[in-house]
Amino acid sequence: MKATSENYDLNIIRWFTIMAVVYLVVGTLVGVYVASELAWPVLNMDLAEISFGRLRPLHTNAVIFAFGGCALFGTGLYSVQRTGGVSLWSNKMAWFTFWGWNLIIVSAVITLPLGITQSREYAELEWPIDLAVAVVWLSFGINFIMTIARRKTSHIYVSNWFFLGMFIMITYLHVVNSLAIPVSMFKSYSVFSGVQDAMIQWWWGHNAVGFYLTAGFLGIMYYFVPKQAGRPIFSYRLSVLHFWALMFGYVWLGAHHLQYTALPDWTGSLGAAVSIAMIIPSWGGAINGMMTLSGAWDKLRNDYILRFLVISLAFYAMSTFEGPVMSVKTVNALSHYTDWTVGHVHSGTLGWVAMVAAGALYHLVEKLWNTRMYSASLVNLHFWLATIGAVVYITAMWVSGIMQGLMWRAYDEFGTLTYTFAESVAAMHPYYAMRAIGGMIYWLGGAIMLYNVVMTIRNANRNA
Ligand code: HEM
Ligand code: HEM
Repeated sequence: MKATSENYDLNIIRWFTIMAVVYLVVGTLVGVYVASELAWPVLNMDLAEISFGRLRPLHTNAVIFAFGGCALFGTGLYSVQRTGGVSLWSNKMAWFTFWGWNLIIVSAVITLPLGITQSREYAELEWPIDLAVAVVWLSFGINFIMTIARRKTSHIYVSNWFFLGMFIMITYLHVVNSLAIPVSMFKSYSVFSGVQDAMIQWWWGHNAVGFYLTAGFLGIMYYFVPKQAGRPIFSYRLSVLHFWALMFGYVWLGAHHLQYTALPDWTGSLGAAVSIAMIIPSWGGAINGMMTLSGAWDKLRNDYILRFLVISLAFYAMSTFEGPVMSVKTVNALSHYTDWTVGHVHSGTLGWVAMVAAGALYHLVEKLWNTRMYSASLVNLHFWLATIGAVVYITAMWVSGIMQGLMWRAYDEFGTLTYTFAESVAAMHPYYAMRAIGGMIYWLGGAIMLYNVVMTIRNANRNA
């Protein structure tokens, strides 16, 4: 017998949902600020704590771990209950995950502006916080696995596979990448050095993208797209292929971040070769998600939540085509160190990660409070602001990145560089301003979402 909705642990999901929306707004606001600092450096105000160097990791931690984490935990712990027909293995442990994760976020907000950092990208937090991350992360994973073990269905639905893949891979990536020797409460040194250090860092760095920002959010996609469309996934077989190809492929990609460095040449070539191969499963997955709508495309006309989910797949396809192209050595010779990379990052994050999450969060709000959104037109407005904001951001970075790369490599008939570095920085200014504006538009969409969610919950509670 299937559990009724009263048997599910939904309160904890409600809180993860609310916090995900709050962190989306806060994290993108910090993004807008750092983008504005690059365009108008006066905003650094000569204060170390709010300088670009200190706020940038705060932005990445806020959007990836605060927003992304709450979205993943909320959707994961919800869909595992629904697909297994059981409540969580431990409701208490889920609350531990919630409070633990929020405490970690608070400690990031305090330590990063103070300059307390390991200086490892997407792994900046110092060792005591790293230990806390491991414990809280395990609490989520164990709860997830044990809930699957208790399921009433014979089959483990594919969205759970993606969440499980994320959990297993991120656990060992986090542990290995964070191995460090503490010298004080707030300072530690990595056990790796030199080229090994770089390799480990980017093995983590790319797999944070591959298993956290991609596999985890694909777990969201495989549950919420069919749910919102009211149709089964287009091809279950393709989703299984998508899963295994990503699991075995992604781990090999890290070296594409280190082309033309002290790393042996063949590792970069291997990274590029596997990166190119990744187009196939990625596009297979994107098409699978989109084709789930075949025969129901008309729903897109007025189901604004579904629109978020579908456009996210278009961005997923776009960024997983662009990434492999950028991994090719000749292309990377131009794109590396430039804003093209930043553009690629945000087509993945603004377009794919945040859009698929927004669609799922709207879906969750309606389900969890058993109501419709306070305003469907505001969902629609959010959709357009997010789409336009993302496109403005990404295009600005493409233009500035390619221009930057071309300016750096231009030389005259005497073999001297045509442009000084300062000239290339000055040339970036209009594009940095354009990116800040695109970011503001995107942020406004998120703020409208928060307002809409708050009003929906208030009305639902009043009518309850
Ligand atoms: C309003 C929206 C956003 C704005 C204005 C914004 C702005 C920025 C800026 C200015 C940087 C620094 C770029 C540089 O170092 O040159 C950055 C980096 C980054 N942001 Fe955002 N961001 C936004 C949303 C997001 C979201 C939603 C995510 C993830 C879910 C994200 C993930 C990242 C990552 C991973 C980096 C590091 C990129 C790299 O190292 O190349 N951002 N962002
Ligand atoms: C098949 C899929 C993908 C491949 C092969 C790929 C490949 C690449 C390459 C070659 C770079 C530039 C490395 C460099 O020059 O330093 C890069 C950077 C990056 N990509 Fe992707 N990408 C893929 C998908 C994605 C997606 C979907 C996202 C976001 C959700 C994403 C997020 C990032 C981030 C955050 C960086 C910047 C890392 C940094 O320098 O800080 N990628 N990717």
